[in-house]
Amino acid sequence: MSDETPRKMDRKLLLEYVRVTEAAAIACSRLIGAGRKEDADSLAVEAMRRAFDKVPARGTIVIGEGERDEAPMLYIGEKVGPKDEELPEVDIAVDPLEGTNLCASGKPGALAVLAIAPRGGLLNAPDTYMYKIAAGPEGVGVVTLDKSPAQNVLDLAEAKNKQPGDVVVVVLERPRHDALVAELRGAGASVRLITDGDVNPSVATGLPHSGIDMFIGKGGAPEGVLSAAALRCLGGVFEGRLEFRNPGERQRALGMGMRDPDRLLRHTDLVSGPCFFVASGVTDGPILAGIRKVGLRTHVSSLALRSDTGTIRRFETSTLLDHLPVHD
Ligand code: FBP
Repeated sequence: MSDETPRKMDRKLLLEYVRVTEAAAIACSRLIGAGRKEDADSLAVEAMRRAFDKVPARGTIVIGEGERDEAPMLYIGEKVGPKDEELPEVDIAVDPLEGTNLCASGKPGALAVLAIAPRGGLLNAPDTYMYKIAAGPEGVGVVTLDKSPAQNVLDLAEAKNKQPGDVVVVVLERPRHDALVAELRGAGASVRLITDGDVNPSVATGLPHSGIDMFIGKGGAPEGVLSAAALRCLGGVFEGRLEFRNPGERQRALGMGMRDPDRLLRHTDLVSGPCFFVASGVTDGPILAGIRKVGLRTHVSSLALRSDTGTIRRFETSTLLDHLPVHD
């Protein structure tokens, strides 16, 4: 990432990007509970891709649907937005449908999500795993992957002035997390297991009154960068360490410019400067309500965060089905 990352971004762009996640959430919502996760994902990807071209910024996808040869749209390196040299340049991380299984099975926690930063402001992470930890503002200087999971629970409890038993920790329910869950429970934490979708609980750690104190465990690296952007806006803490499934993935990270891909990534390694984070709910979750269809109208709830001011904005949009942003 560049040391010369600009410190400000045009705040007017934030609302434009809300339209982008709204479009993706609305588009895939017609397949909530349909058991067709790939089709739902494609609808979200196509709608998001089209919506980007209406935003007055020249974007480069740095975290997206994969490499150019494996993704037709929103691939890493793809340029989106009007080709007008006067427009600001931004880097974009996207997950048009975070929690494809959740959407397909109609379970809570699916989102359409993106993060924006000036050029060079987001880690160009390969699509591999990341061991990650997230907490809200009270966790800054307290919660870190340098400590054991149990120690993080005890220290966060003290920082939040609560008992360890009142510390709510979300973990993806996977066999690989069995020992982690046992350790967290051993420290007294209240562990909440989820089947998919770790952006939702990671962001929730930074939102007042979400009821979630910490997220920890291994999930997708792209989702890690998105969550890091949100917690940057919310004044929380996020750290990660890439975990490669094979030597090819490690090689890819080196090719993306990471000098030491195995090292602990601090918050500023993931997001180096100012950023936006925007999400729209697909199904209900801890940070957003999902899409609701009432009569001819579709209601979509969105969250827009800006690091420059730490402002938390919520949007409730009701649109006529005929005027879905995906069709205009
Ligand atoms: P998709 O939206 O691509 O289905 O990913 C959902 C997700 O649950 C992420 O939130 C999480 O980081 C990752 O998958 C976990 O990966 P795995 O299912 O391989 O454990």
